[in-house]
Amino acid sequence: MTTALRPVTTASATSDTCGHFFGANVHLLPQTDQLRALHTVVRNRDASREDFVFGAGRIIRMLTEAALNLLPFEPYDVTTPVGSTYHGLRFAQKLIGVPIIRAGESMEAELRAVVPGIRIGKILIQRDKTTKQPHLYYTALPQDIADRQVLLLDPMLATGGTALAAIEVLRELGVPEEHIVFVNFITCPEGIAAVADRYPGVRIVTSAVENGLNEQAYMLPGIGDFGDRYFGTD
Ligand code: URA
Repeated sequence: MTTALRPVTTASATSDTCGHFFGANVHLLPQTDQLRALHTVVRNRDASREDFVFGAGRIIRMLTEAALNLLPFEPYDVTTPVGSTYHGLRFAQKLIGVPIIRAGESMEAELRAVVPGIRIGKILIQRDKTTKQPHLYYTALPQDIADRQVLLLDPMLATGGTALAAIEVLRELGVPEEHIVFVNFITCPEGIAAVADRYPGVRIVTSAVENGLNEQAYMLPGIGDFGDRYFGTD
């Protein structure tokens, strides 16, 4: 399954097998031995919380870097210390990170570390225990969000219900689909299909695509409850 997806580092858009497979803009991190070793740490049910947080943080840093590579840049010249010109680049548009509370907040620190001073919004969505439907409880987003490139942060993309509700919030505020990069730790075909069907312009950056979901909507082989393991509330 994962080999059918386009690695972030692949330059050619014409060999876009993930686009055909999922109808999605899915950017899968290159499945290096280092990445797989980190996944081995965090997926181990016996991992200490310290090891889980450390391994997850390393992978989140890789995801963050890959997501930044998808943003638009513009030419920007600087003068070097020897008086020469370096024809460089800088971000072409204002950015914002929007973690979906609570698990998405685990991704905030790595984003702040590589983009100091980045604006951080918040969206709180929780699934109603009876209806199983996602319910929007709270948003904190700047007025100019429609002018920003949005890094939407949520480590788990399982059924896609929460992701769809969060993207809908952004779309209603005028954010174009093409300005949204969903930064995600692990996902599965069901989650990718849910996002791609409704919002084909949204790009997904992920480090793993799982086999599917169990009856409780946990991904398999999966990682368990990411929020509980990261924040130590299980
Ligand atoms: N949320 C999680 O934390 N884990 C899953 O496998 C699915 C949703």
